[in-house]
Amino acid sequence: MNAFPVLATERLILREIISEDTPEVFGIFSDPKVMLYYDTEALTEPKQALEVIARFTDRHHKELGIRWGITLKQSGKVLGTCGLIWKPHNHSAVLGYDLAAGFWGKGIMAEALKPVLTYAFDHEVNRVEAMTHLANTASQKVLTRLGFRAEGILRDYFYFKGKFFDLNCFSLLRTDLETKSLKPG
Ligand SMILES: CC(C)(COP(=O)(O)OP(=O)(O)OC[C@H]1O[C@@H](n2cnc3c(N)ncnc32)[C@H](O)[C@@H]1OP(=O)(O)O)[C@@H](O)C(=O)NCCC(=O)NCCS
Repeated sequence: MNAFPVLATERLILREIISEDTPEVFGIFSDPKVMLYYDTEALTEPKQALEVIARFTDRHHKELGIRWGITLKQSGKVLGTCGLIWKPHNHSAVLGYDLAAGFWGKGIMAEALKPVLTYAFDHEVNRVEAMTHLANTASQKVLTRLGFRAEGILRDYFYFKGKFFDLNCFSLLRTDLETKSLKPG
């Protein structure tokens, strides 16, 4: 297994999420505002956050994906997470991300995702895809600002609490970057 890649931007360090980050991870995934458009329940106990961290670690060890903890350079505390699930057969990856609500609106996620996308395209990925709930305009803005294109609607794509939901599918191809810079910052 490769060492965990640490990524840096002007304001941020993206690093491995470890058990000591449990309080911050619990804070993020127990917040109904963060979980509003997810197909899973908000966490109710810190030990569930420890399980989430263990899943991220296991995924990395098995080379199925990678999830970074987003930290501010000054504090080192995890204020969000982002990552990729590899689909090596198709040279593609699925992007996911979430930020503690207290840090929304400062352009942090777009800043964090730039080196993540560069990392993907440097590791044999040709296509990165992201799916968002139709009402999740904040997420769609982040993707559009990074150069992702909306591909269309995946009908009844996920099922949660007895209901099906449509999702918007976005993608960024390696060739899209020819006209777009993903330099950190
Ligand atoms: C989606 C998300 C990562 C955006 O990150 P961010 O760093 O706040 O993004 P930005 O600062 O670029 O802001 C993007 C948009 O979020 C919205 N936004 C900003 N601050 C907000 C706030 N305090 N409350 C609600 N929405 C806010 C605005 O529409 C903003 O667009 P604008 O810049 O044109 O005004 C973040 O909102 C989040 O973690 N949401 C919950 C988890 C989630 O939905 N993840 C994605 C699943 S597909």
